[in-house]
Amino acid sequence: MSGERRRTRTAILISGRGSNMVALIEAARDEAYPAEIVLVAANLPDAGGLERAAAAGIATASVDHRPFGKDREAFEQALDAVLRQHDIELVVLAGFMRVLTPWFVGRWQGRLLNIHPSLLPLFKGTHTHARALEAGVAEHGCTVHFVVPELDAGPTILQASVPVLPGDDEASLSARVLAQEHLIYPQAVAQVAAGTVRLENGAVVSA
Ligand code: GAR
Repeated sequence: MSGERRRTRTAILISGRGSNMVALIEAARDEAYPAEIVLVAANLPDAGGLERAAAAGIATASVDHRPFGKDREAFEQALDAVLRQHDIELVVLAGFMRVLTPWFVGRWQGRLLNIHPSLLPLFKGTHTHARALEAGVAEHGCTVHFVVPELDAGPTILQASVPVLPGDDEASLSARVLAQEHLIYPQAVAQVAAGTVRLENGAVVSA
C-alpha cells in the first residue's frame, strides 16, 4: 500500500517470563501498529520469555551478563552489538533486571523505554508491591518512562493506577498492577514509535 509509514524496528529486552513482552507482541501483530517487534533479547539464557518469543516467530538472542562479571559496560557492548546487527531503532525494557550504565543509556537516549511496577517517583527499585503494602498507600500502579542514567527517574510517558484493596497481598496487588502494565505499555510504545511522543531536553514532549 502506498503512503504507509515504515514501522519502527523494535527490540524487547527481558530477564524473565515476559508477560509484558507478550502484550507488546500481540499489539504489534496489527500491521497498523507503528512498532514492529523484530528481536527479543535476554541477559539470562533460560529466561522463560525467550521460548514464548520464538513460538511467536520472533528472532531471539541471549547475551549472558554473568561472564562479564562486574564489567557492566562490556556486557552492554555485546548487547548493543546484537541490537545493531538487527538494525534496532527502539529498545523496550520489559522486566529487564540489569541496571544500565550511562554509556548504554546515552547511546539509546530517547529510544529506550522501561516499565516500572509503581507510580513513580514512589517506590523506585525492587519489591515495589511489598513496599506499597507496607507503606499503606491507597493507590498503586505502574509507569512507562524514558530511561535516563539515574535509576527509575526518567520522564513519564504513561501511568495507570489501581486501588489497594483490604486484604491485598503481594500476589493480588501485583496481578492487578500487571493487568494495567499490559494495557499501557503497548500504548506508550506506539506513541514513541509513531513519533507522537518524544524525549526533548530531558522532558516528554507530545506532538
Ligand atoms: C513487570 O511487573 C515489570 O514492571 C517489572 O518486572 C515485571 C516483569 O514481568 N519490571 C521491573 O521491576 C523493572 N525494574 P514480565 O516479565 O511478566 O513482563
